[in-house]
Amino acid sequence: MTSEELAQTHAAAFSQTRPWSAEEFESLLSQTGVILCGDAKSFVLGRVIAGEAEVLTLATHPDYQQQGLAQTQLETFLVAAKAAGADCVFLEVAADNAPATNLYLKNKFENNGHRPHYYLRQDGTKIGADVLRRAL
Ligand SMILES: CC(C)(COP(=O)(O)OP(=O)(O)OC[C@H]1O[C@@H](n2cnc3c(N)ncnc32)[C@H](O)[C@@H]1OP(=O)(O)O)[C@@H](O)C(=O)NCCC(=O)NCCS
Repeated sequence: MTSEELAQTHAAAFSQTRPWSAEEFESLLSQTGVILCGDAKSFVLGRVIAGEAEVLTLATHPDYQQQGLAQTQLETFLVAAKAAGADCVFLEVAADNAPATNLYLKNKFENNGHRPHYYLRQDGTKIGADVLRRAL
């Protein structure tokens, strides 16, 4: 899977927030501890630092949503993060993002905090992020 494919899937999936460029994915993929699971249809990008994992982004292309792909990639990421030494995983999710929140709660993530005005939307509005955590 190329950085260009990651950027295309990310842009198609995230309609409200700024898409990440292929260069940004390229830069992230070169960093220590970064884990990529999936393919151009659905992927999870995260990293493990000092025993803690973080989901940086997760997306399923709209043409392939609600087919269980994100569930599969998230499970794969959790296994890979644990194998890389993480004992917990954190992530942020927009407070109004019901599909992603449902996915995380179904996978035993729990509320760990809230960051007000965290995400800037394309229309200029801001939305808070819920911080979720799960032990591995
Ligand atoms: C969130 C997202 C990754 C889910 O991908 P997906 O491949 O469609 O998800 P799955 O088919 O694996 O669904 C797994 C679970 O997610 C939840 N879910 C997925 N789509 C949903 C929807 N449209 N409405 C409500 N819950 C949904 C459900 O809990 C589902 O489990 P279930 O089928 O047993 O009900 C996808 O909607 C997406 O790319 N959204 C835009 C990007 C985004 O918000 N990323 C997360 C940023 S934190």
